[in-house]
Amino acid sequence: MTFQLEKIETASKGELYAELAGQLHSLLADERDFIANAANFASLLFYSLPDVTWAGFYLSKADELVLGPFQGKPACVRIAMGKGVCGTAAEQRQTILVANVHDFPGHIACDSVSNSEIVVPLIKQERLIGVLDLDSQAFNRFDDEDARGLNELAEIFIDSTSLEFNLLGATADSQAKA
Ligand code: SME
Repeated sequence: MTFQLEKIETASKGELYAELAGQLHSLLADERDFIANAANFASLLFYSLPDVTWAGFYLSKADELVLGPFQGKPACVRIAMGKGVCGTAAEQRQTILVANVHDFPGHIACDSVSNSEIVVPLIKQERLIGVLDLDSQAFNRFDDEDARGLNELAEIFIDSTSLEFNLLGATADSQAKA
């Protein structure tokens, strides 16, 4: 398979996310492996969205978040529930937009160039799979349109992917729901 990743020329963020939704559907169409699909999804975001310095996943494992597939610089590996932007989004099960990470109490600085961030929780049938995290060097990089667009992309990813990714680390309860 050859995937043509071209710079998307669009007039608006809405069009950009609509285009990315089509690309993500094709990218994941013939594959359900969690790690493979998460890695390709992170790459699509990192190379298609402007001004993004990090794009990737933290995955729920035994009541904490553990680093998953990503694009960008190496990052902190474990985040406790409720800690940092990722742990807060995971605990509250809500998308969190941070215009200036330096103003966010408890923000975990993995990369000193990051100035703004968005974190989208990944939820399937009320089970928290993990979070999708994007960082930017620009202040105020992400807005409600990004939140809407990224939530739609996250749904495509969840629907197209097997969630049996962490059977070794998962509890019996979460295995049953995988
Ligand atoms: N800033 C995040 C930590 C993860 S990195 O940004 C990749 C946080 O506060 O949870």
